[in-house]
Amino acid sequence: MQKKSNNHAHNGAHNTETTNTSTMESSQLMKLFEDELKDIYWAEKALTKAIPKMIKNATNAELKEALQNHLSETEEQVSRVEQVFELLGKKVVAKKCEAMAGLIKEAEEIMEDCEEGAMRDAGIISAAQKVEHYEIASYGTLRTFAETLNLTDAAELLEATLKEEKAADEKLSEIGTTVVNVEAVHEEIEK
Ligand SMILES: [Fe+2]
Ligand SMILES: [Fe+2]
Repeated sequence: MQKKSNNHAHNGAHNTETTNTSTMESSQLMKLFEDELKDIYWAEKALTKAIPKMIKNATNAELKEALQNHLSETEEQVSRVEQVFELLGKKVVAKKCEAMAGLIKEAEEIMEDCEEGAMRDAGIISAAQKVEHYEIASYGTLRTFAETLNLTDAAELLEATLKEEKAADEKLSEIGTTVVNVEAVHEEIEK
């Protein structure tokens, strides 16, 4: 718990009175942790429905495969979040994540607006990477909260998902730079 006081030192001087994490502070952090968990639970469940639409709309075989793999991972991630709720002794609850709802809506618009083929694939990659970045930010925070609250098992589950999100993002970058964007440009030039 000493560690957390050090982190606070970077954020300003509002924690000068206490050097240890107070009970009130940790219960507030627990509340925030739980709220964020409900948010990401909604987001992951929404993604299990959104990713299949991306797969259907994608043309590039490598992209389809990467999305398919990440769909399986996402299903596993839903169950990991459920396990974290269980570790906390809390009921499994989803709370609508407006940010993810917006990112999914944007992805749907991109798929409608872009012509099928390399252009739409490029759009799908762009939308999917925004999703991954949101998840990376969320799981990074959740893992750090869990560590601060000494919830070691929860932190491990969250770290496992964080790694998958990072790998998915990297895979999309790779597909985007090596295959899709080149094809998309050529398609445009040929018109
Ligand atoms: Fe995820
Ligand atoms: Fe993801």
